[in-house]
Amino acid sequence: MIKSRFQKYVALFALLVLGVDALDTFIAAVYEHAVILPNRTETPVSKEDALLLMNRNIDVLEKAVKLAAKQGAHIIVTPEDGIYGWVFTRETIYPYLEDIPDPKVNWIPCRDPHRFGHSPVQERLSCLAKHNSIYIVANTGDKKPCNASDPQCPADGHYQYNTNVVFDSDGKLVARYHKYNLFAPEIQFDFPKDSEFVTFETPFGKFGIFTCFDIFSHDPAVAVVDDFKVDSVVYPTAWYNTLPLLSAAPFHSAWARAMRVNLLAANTHNTSMHMTGSGIYAPEAVKVYYYDMETESGQLMLSELKSRPCREPDYPEAVDWSAYARNIKPSPHEQSDFPGMIYFDEFTFTELKENTGNYTVCQKDLCCHLTYKMSGKRTDEVYAVGAFDGLHTVEGQYYLQICTLLKCQTTDLKTCGEPVGSAFTKFEDFSLSGTFGTSYIFPQIVLSGSQLASERHYEVSRDGRLKSRSGARLPVLVLALYGRVFEKDPPRLGQGPKKLQ
Ligand SMILES: *[C@@H]1O[C@H](CO)[C@@H](O)[C@H](O)[C@H]1NC(C)=O
Ligand SMILES: *[C@@H]1O[C@H](CO)[C@@H](O)[C@H](O)[C@H]1NC(C)=O
Ligand SMILES: *[C@@H]1O[C@H](CO)[C@@H](O)[C@H](O)[C@H]1NC(C)=O
Ligand SMILES: *[C@@H]1O[C@H](CO)[C@@H](O)[C@H](O)[C@H]1NC(C)=O
Repeated sequence: MIKSRFQKYVALFALLVLGVDALDTFIAAVYEHAVILPNRTETPVSKEDALLLMNRNIDVLEKAVKLAAKQGAHIIVTPEDGIYGWVFTRETIYPYLEDIPDPKVNWIPCRDPHRFGHSPVQERLSCLAKHNSIYIVANTGDKKPCNASDPQCPADGHYQYNTNVVFDSDGKLVARYHKYNLFAPEIQFDFPKDSEFVTFETPFGKFGIFTCFDIFSHDPAVAVVDDFKVDSVVYPTAWYNTLPLLSAAPFHSAWARAMRVNLLAANTHNTSMHMTGSGIYAPEAVKVYYYDMETESGQLMLSELKSRPCREPDYPEAVDWSAYARNIKPSPHEQSDFPGMIYFDEFTFTELKENTGNYTVCQKDLCCHLTYKMSGKRTDEVYAVGAFDGLHTVEGQYYLQICTLLKCQTTDLKTCGEPVGSAFTKFEDFSLSGTFGTSYIFPQIVLSGSQLASERHYEVSRDGRLKSRSGARLPVLVLALYGRVFEKDPPRLGQGPKKLQ
């Protein structure tokens, strides 16, 4: 009797778990936020003034959260620096920081706000999540006291971390991530000693989390996908677009495609800093993205995603990135290569001379192959195909192998690689591939006006070609196979503040 009742209970419990716990799809939201910046960041403000500013930003985020929840969103991602802005020193960020505990303490700040000292930001985010029954991802600052027992302890007696927090739909703190790869100007924060691989389980799949510049890294970005097998990644960022190769939406969508996970990317919005470009990216398609250099307003986006994309029939197959290029013999024709800079890296370029053709351009171990057809060769637009194989050393160190086709800024070949915004030449056919020594290649297409191309118009073939589909007539600004060679990286990408010792 007892046994059978137990079995009934187990069966009922299993039903509940299936019913409540397993969603095949979910609604994701990201909010591109035009951050209200503090008036002064060079002298410290009081804790009260810091909180006033943070509450003004959370007021805006609150509207987005409520709107998203009303439309059925299960999770919303808000940007890096979205609560207090940027350009701080170590001293001036301090009044904005809270002690953020390890989530294993099992804490719902909304219910028990004073358990870990004064934490009004965590309390407010927790209550927002709880009252709107939605997961909230936000970025804020954590402080951790230390003392002489730790030889690395900073002179002011605490660590300060750029931190992502996640509250579940009950308001519970379920994830805390300290940004590992700080970008060079982030002098207000400390590097965590080790890279953290932070994941959290939800009824709509397993999530990973990291921040902005981390997306260039193996640890934690690639590792959290390859080793921890997450389905989706939530990604707060404060990304300033730098064409041709480092614009937010093209780069982030390429990462989701290459890593074959959902990526929910929320950027800050500030046109004078070229910060715009947020989106919801699935492995097989860009679901929705936002890019706006005209206005100063924020934007909410929502899209339905598959909870476990790797179980779906349209899950993209793994690509062998050099399979095609390995077997190509360069067609023998005259070609004069020339150097050109992209974001401080010296590429080897060659000009596209005709409206159709095949080119091979090489640098060190990398040869890039391009086959293309333009609808017409304009006299006022020049395109070049380029290769780079080397260590990037400015604002961080990381090893790259890149093949790219791009429009030069002017008809002067010296401008190839410099940013350009629009193009009138239409490409009807293209195929770009390279002899890469890495399997981490992020395939990008940027069209005139920094727009993304629709998946109807191109594909990534299993043998490693970024190819047009028939019927495409695309005003291409940039095609790129952006490869990362992690084995040749230094231990940490960021350079950060030098330690005074
Ligand atoms: C900055 O100063 C202006 C003018 O005094 C004021 O209107 C504005 O609200 C201030 N902004 C913040 C974030 O305090
Ligand atoms: C120093 O820090 C350690 C670790 O955080 C802590 O256990 C210890 O109590 C601290 N010592 C003093 C004197 O504050
Ligand atoms: C954008 O950022 C810059 C640099 O921090 C700042 O001076 C400017 O006021 C910001 N623009 C808006 C609209 O907040
Ligand atoms: C380019 O190469 C393809 C095969 O790789 C060939 O069919 C085509 O004729 C070549 N085109 C030119 C213009 O050389």
